[in-house]
Amino acid sequence: MVGAALALGLTVTGLAACGDNGSDAGSSGATGGSGDSAKKIALLLPENKTARYEAFDKPLFEAAVKADCADCEVIYSNANQDAAKQQQQAEAAITQGAEVLVMSAVDGKSAVTIVQNAKAQGVPVIAYDRFIAGSDYYVSFDNKKVGELQGTGLVEALKAAGKTSGDIVMINGSPTDANAADFKAGAHSVLDSSGYTVKAEFDTPDWSPDNAQEWMESQIGAVQANLVGVYAANDGTAGGAIAALKGGGVNPLPPVTGQDAELAAIQRIISGDQALTIYKAIKPQAEDAAKNAIALANKQKPTASADKEGVPATLLDPVVVTKANIKDTIVADKFYDVADICTAEYAAKCTELGIS
Ligand code: BGC
Repeated sequence: MVGAALALGLTVTGLAACGDNGSDAGSSGATGGSGDSAKKIALLLPENKTARYEAFDKPLFEAAVKADCADCEVIYSNANQDAAKQQQQAEAAITQGAEVLVMSAVDGKSAVTIVQNAKAQGVPVIAYDRFIAGSDYYVSFDNKKVGELQGTGLVEALKAAGKTSGDIVMINGSPTDANAADFKAGAHSVLDSSGYTVKAEFDTPDWSPDNAQEWMESQIGAVQANLVGVYAANDGTAGGAIAALKGGGVNPLPPVTGQDAELAAIQRIISGDQALTIYKAIKPQAEDAAKNAIALANKQKPTASADKEGVPATLLDPVVVTKANIKDTIVADKFYDVADICTAEYAAKCTELGIS
């Protein structure tokens, strides 16, 4: 079983301080402590090319579970963009005794089956960040608003650059991710009536920065003459697009959007290579998921303030980040240390922007 778990990329993080409860499969041992009893909670994340999952979601979720339930265990797995693998990981977690699944689906449609199978075994599912129909609870950001903020931010950057017309290309997210459709719809709702022309667009398989880069490279010849802006759905695809534009000799770079406030993107904003990103504070999201996972594992109802397609939900607020407000958002929130952002290469620009 342990071998199988390793093959699937599963890890079991024993969060109990006693540490004598090995990672073998089996039902969780009762600890007899007061308050919440030991529970196994599975965290199933979709990929690891986007920095947020391993750098923020996983450690913040584990810490939040530990804070509320010292004896609980998190069974963690990352599907590396493979929907079939995610299904196996969910099944393996249930076999190992997981009493609730917290899942960010690789493929929102096929994940419905994972949810049905889990629920048939009495295991509730939290749709984490990406919506899954039929789940028990959903915690995310207002993803249409993410797209609107990206679109509005791009238009503002174009106006600031003195461009009143011209072509935009759109590099959207993965076609299997429900969020990507919301980002795209939100951005279109702004860009389609903006006076700029959406000349070409691409749904990036797997959200892969390499795919985004290849597509941008393939377009440069056709669109360069009139290109004024690039909508990229997240910072990974933005990085791919910017590499393609630079490699293709496009100079000056047109404004490029992003999302996730990845460290590399914040540095690109500081240096002027990227116009904006969308900051989604992952800590409250992970904490909310942890709190509600513990509640569901204890057969209690989740706490929700919204509803999506009949699923109780919490939708957090995304924030647009440009040069002008890095200090008041990312830095004020201690999302990164200033020392990590303002390395030697960026020190002078950081000083100019008052980031210290
Ligand atoms: C998330 C983004 C992330 C993207 C790629 C989306 O569902 O909301 O934060 O950049 O997936 O993993």
